[in-house]
Amino acid sequence: MASSTETPGAPAPTAAPDAPATSAAGVPTAGHQPVELAFEIGAGVPRLPEADRAEVLAAPGFGRHFTDHMARAVWTPAGWGQDGVVAHAPITLSPAAAVLHYAQEVFEGLKAYRHDDGSVWAFRPEANAARFAASARRLALPVLPEDAFVRSVEQLVRADVDWVPTGGENSLYLRPFMFASESFLGVRPAAEVTYLVIASPAGSYFGGGEITPVSIWLSQEYSRAAPGGTGAAKCGGNYAASLRAQAEASENGCDQVAFLDAVEHRWVEELGGMNLFFVMDDGTLVTPELSGTILEGVTRSSVLQIAADLGHRVEERRVDVAEWREGCESGRVREVFACGTAAVVTPVGALVEPGRRSVAGDGGTGEVTAAVRQRLTDVQTGRAEDTHGWLHRLV
Ligand code: COI
Repeated sequence: MASSTETPGAPAPTAAPDAPATSAAGVPTAGHQPVELAFEIGAGVPRLPEADRAEVLAAPGFGRHFTDHMARAVWTPAGWGQDGVVAHAPITLSPAAAVLHYAQEVFEGLKAYRHDDGSVWAFRPEANAARFAASARRLALPVLPEDAFVRSVEQLVRADVDWVPTGGENSLYLRPFMFASESFLGVRPAAEVTYLVIASPAGSYFGGGEITPVSIWLSQEYSRAAPGGTGAAKCGGNYAASLRAQAEASENGCDQVAFLDAVEHRWVEELGGMNLFFVMDDGTLVTPELSGTILEGVTRSSVLQIAADLGHRVEERRVDVAEWREGCESGRVREVFACGTAAVVTPVGALVEPGRRSVAGDGGTGEVTAAVRQRLTDVQTGRAEDTHGWLHRLV
């Protein structure tokens, strides 16, 4: 923990000789010594009574209910430690904790599914672990070894296995996150960082059901991210930056907001928390290329693979918003959908701008959108063969 005598702006405390490497500026680097984080499940954690849990699982919604446990580890310049699976409970944080002032924080979202035989599987947790490490590097946070990330998820789900819903596409949504918990107001990478994983039974992200098309407001004046910024990292600040535009979308009767690039205000980037796909009249699937300002979605990359498996051509390239508008009018753009861990694959009904509404096809769920969605959820829930080795058994 930092002492109160530190000078604001001074480098982080010098690491012990065998500690994880930090750069001259005190930024934690990837050069950690091997760490063994077991995330042992603690005893005596109070459990929600079974009847109450059953009521939650009957209609979980999204992000409102949480399981009995959470996984935890703490980083200091001496390395990672204090790991375990403990009671999901409020945390104590100094009002001077750096995250509250400078937003040094990253997170992930992934899901665990119960298959018909009762086994429980995570979808591509290694991909989330790798992205979490990349996000941490960008935010000058310590890198949690990827096997420790996966282990924390495994242990939490084992502790809370009764919370994994059955039926349909319901799942246990897992939210790993890491934040600057050091009490210090100097602006520099924190010397104490807390890693937590919480879990929440999940149904549809959108109240109306995932298969109901959503309307998209095209943000007129706000950008989500700029070149050289943090757009490719999964950090809370990106989502905070999207909220004013999201509120504007709601004011205009839309479900979500789409952002264009910050330089030319012309190229389609992503929604606040989802990637976008366009299905063209020749069956090609097009998605905005990874420009450094959009998030490399795990669902996005899975959709690219699934579309190819289903015989579609796929293109990652720049998409001009005029191509979206005009393609809806000409019929060149047949379907549009959004995708993400929480949103799965969600059809886009209309792009809304002042005085203009662009609808692809009939504005309903397109055939290709439905087929991609079906294959993805079939793999996730064990109804289709996992030919790419995407599932990771947890229980
Ligand atoms: C996810 O899809 O997991 C996300 O993190 C996006 C968020 C809007 C829920």
